[in-house]
Amino acid sequence: MAHLWSGRFDEEPDASVFSYGVSLSFDRLLFEDDVTGSLAWAEALARAGVLSEADAAAIAGGLGDILDAGRRDPAFVDGPDEDIHAFVERQLVERIGEAGKRLHTGRSRNEQVSLDLRLYLKRRIPLMVDRLTRLVAALASRAGACGTATMPSYTHLRRAQPILAAHFFLAHAAAFRRDAGRFERAIDEADEMPLGSGAIAGTTYAVDTAFLAGRLGFSRTVLNSLDASSDRDFVAGFLYACSLTMVHLSRLAEDLIIFTSEEFGFFELPDRFATGSSLMPQKKNPDPLELARGKSGRVLGRLAGWLVTMKGLPGGYNRDLQEDKEAVFETEATLSSSLDACAAVAAGLTLNAPRAEAAASGMLLATDVADYLVAKGVAFRDAHAIVGAIVRKLVAEGRDFASLSLEEWRAFSDRIGPDVGEAISAKASVAAKRTPQSTNPDAVRAALDELAGWVGARRR
Ligand code: ARG
Repeated sequence: MAHLWSGRFDEEPDASVFSYGVSLSFDRLLFEDDVTGSLAWAEALARAGVLSEADAAAIAGGLGDILDAGRRDPAFVDGPDEDIHAFVERQLVERIGEAGKRLHTGRSRNEQVSLDLRLYLKRRIPLMVDRLTRLVAALASRAGACGTATMPSYTHLRRAQPILAAHFFLAHAAAFRRDAGRFERAIDEADEMPLGSGAIAGTTYAVDTAFLAGRLGFSRTVLNSLDASSDRDFVAGFLYACSLTMVHLSRLAEDLIIFTSEEFGFFELPDRFATGSSLMPQKKNPDPLELARGKSGRVLGRLAGWLVTMKGLPGGYNRDLQEDKEAVFETEATLSSSLDACAAVAAGLTLNAPRAEAAASGMLLATDVADYLVAKGVAFRDAHAIVGAIVRKLVAEGRDFASLSLEEWRAFSDRIGPDVGEAISAKASVAAKRTPQSTNPDAVRAALDELAGWVGARRR
């Protein structure tokens, strides 16, 4: 078979080594983008007077037919070709002959592959943002369903202070909102039109790059042809956005695995999202959450792998860059399915309010006792020491604050009065918080409203 570059060589490529470099099996996902780019390129060549109107029309017709064929039957995009660019060109020449051979004038696969991947990411990343939005909406609905029920918060995985259970869901939603912003910035990074770069030095034909950018939906053109032929920062940016989202999914999964366990039991996992054991009849395992946590390894690995691939490259296009596509496609598929699974699981969680509230009382009210003493005029550092001594006694006796008589309280500080009872509870603790980002019930309600606006603005 003749290749795009066969004229240069005396012998046919070695079949097994050639197949080592073939990318059509995966870059076929760029089929539509490749055709889109070629349609615009043919127009630009015609506008520059490089292609006759007749040739340009023949090319547009041929490319349109090829696009239809690929849309009708995805299996059409297959063959002995080295990559998707070679596939489309062969199809075109088979259909329209001579005119098809003029399409690649002044153009290189080096800029074509960059263009295709940029177009791909620009149309695919919004779908990822949609998935993130659905997950955030699921978390918002769980937050809303929790009402004013409290649960413990943890630092060092030790009970810290009471929070509203809604606050827990809103915390994870906040991280995923940052991810959505990161994806929006990844789109912006991909939004540079590389055509006109040629193989490396630019192109000899006066193609109107501003026209091409507008025609292809780009807001700007690359700055430098040499840089453009090897720049895959936009790939790294996408993989980083995916990696951090996967980190957040993994942390959500970890929290939910812990909080749905028998030991914690704050939330119940619906049976339909759990898996049993082949041996132990009692088991109800949170497998989808474990898989999301586990799959974060491959996404983070793809980012690290891609950075390693990029770091040693000399200037200009190098074939190493072909590795970008499997990194993007595998990462995209893994993150997409993980987001969908986690959104479904999150939407189905129910709160076990008695369990969560019971766990939110006891020693984790110690800070509130210290704040009570501060309100009575005790310096915070002294209050901390006084409460530390109370805690030591209670722990030794297996009791909690609620069991202390006023006399016992006052043995530690005569500033303590009969109002201490109502001041020291989980409800009082959350109500006492005063900042907008806090777990104060009014603040949480406002945060839920604000989040509903965020989701509403992105839902489509
Ligand atoms: N399949 C190649 C890639 O993915 C396309 C560019 C090929 N360019 C080249 N000079 N061999 O990077």
